[in-house]
Amino acid sequence: MPAIKFYKHDDIPMEMHKVKVVQQLTLLPADQRLQKMKDAGFNTFQLHNGDIFMDMLTDSGVNAMSQEQLAGMMKPDDAYAGSESFYRMVDKLEEIFGIGNCLPAHQGRACENILAERFVKPGNCVIMNYHFTTTKAHITRKGGHVEELVKDEGLISKSDLPFKGDIDLDKLEACIQAEGADNVVFMRLEAGTNLIGGQPVSLQSFKDACAIARKHGIVSVLDASLLQDNLYFIKTRDPECADRSIRDICREIADQFDIIYFSARKFGLARGGAILVRDDELFHSMEDLVPMFEGFLTYGGMSIREIEAMTVGFDECLEMDVISQGPQFIEYTVNQLDEYGVPMITPGGGLGAHIDATQFVSHIPQEEYPAGALAAALYICGGIRGMERGTLSEERNADGSERLASMELVRLALPRRVFTLSQVEYVIDRVKWLYDHRDMIGGLRFTHEPATLRFFTGRLEPVTDWPDRLAAAFKDAFGDDQ
Ligand SMILES: Cc1ncc(COP(=O)(O)O)c(C=O)c1O
Repeated sequence: MPAIKFYKHDDIPMEMHKVKVVQQLTLLPADQRLQKMKDAGFNTFQLHNGDIFMDMLTDSGVNAMSQEQLAGMMKPDDAYAGSESFYRMVDKLEEIFGIGNCLPAHQGRACENILAERFVKPGNCVIMNYHFTTTKAHITRKGGHVEELVKDEGLISKSDLPFKGDIDLDKLEACIQAEGADNVVFMRLEAGTNLIGGQPVSLQSFKDACAIARKHGIVSVLDASLLQDNLYFIKTRDPECADRSIRDICREIADQFDIIYFSARKFGLARGGAILVRDDELFHSMEDLVPMFEGFLTYGGMSIREIEAMTVGFDECLEMDVISQGPQFIEYTVNQLDEYGVPMITPGGGLGAHIDATQFVSHIPQEEYPAGALAAALYICGGIRGMERGTLSEERNADGSERLASMELVRLALPRRVFTLSQVEYVIDRVKWLYDHRDMIGGLRFTHEPATLRFFTGRLEPVTDWPDRLAAAFKDAFGDDQ
């Protein structure tokens, strides 16, 4: 995305694509949104998409596809075994990452399932810069535990640190000593660290952490699901990489790792996933898990059409014009809201703009899920669907007590190539209104609480009638039809 200069206007992010196919949106009035939120058990995952104006839940599987991806989907080689579409994908991945051993899986968490099955036994440790919900769930399901060693600054919401996803190297050494290298079954570094606000990892940190893992004989794993955002930030924030190509930076990162996996719902701009394994023996020791859980080794539970779309999407994820739109829209959103005083995670990261709910609704105790309550309020006041990323997304401790999250975030995802700047302006405007009425928002409590990944299917209720009062205040301000 070249920095397009304006004559009589401040520079703004500029889309480097045009819209060819559209989906009509509806904005239900506030009364109806209030009812829909009640019906959804105050869980934004339970809303119907048709009742949503701005779906900012996730960037996963909802990025707009290019005409080249759609064209690719017209030439799939349908075969249970030996599909040429699969081999085209493997060739492309080898060209980009330098690894030709590929295990296909239908999405990112399916890759995590295979990794956990292969590596994790009760009592084992997996080291990470930070966990992702599904990753951790797979590891704990197998009796393992996760050590999160992101630098302390990574958890401070307001910062100008360019690489808040970096792992703390001293903590990494200390953790390996404490656990014993043999018990650490792998170290997983997550590019574009999702749960702390889409924050990137520096090239140097990737290299240093992998060198430590190598020294101790620990397998290094890259979760590349958000790699495209991370690559953009390395190029734009690391002066030593400013003149390097995205492909070149990508290859240097890849060269550090033994295993690379990704969700192609993000990296690849389609719907799928894969694991790349450098070592032949290790690769063969994992192969049987694909037909067991996913499908035959040349489709892995994916449609062959999606495999063709992914293959094109990988190249697009390495194009600056494509990968800069998300981060630039996010930076714009974060800066506008930050200037207004709304507590945002700064600097803006990839994937979405993140509101710090701990401060936005500081009167709501963590046990009443401040980020979940804020996400519900935002839907009531704007038809905007964000995602809670805080205590509600955690699982309870073994003794039944709440595991309080280190950050309480509401993520407003900006799927790639989907929204226009006027839609983003609408969101900024509604968040500002809500911030000025934040005292009206109250807490939530569970009415149905699943034991695992409760944020997906759990149902909640407000602790008071605050949603009714909030909707009434919104109608007073904007009228009955907004
Ligand atoms: C960093 C990261 N890893 C893994 C996953 C899981 O991928 P999927 O949703 O395709 O299962 C996600 C999904 O959001 C993610 O952000």
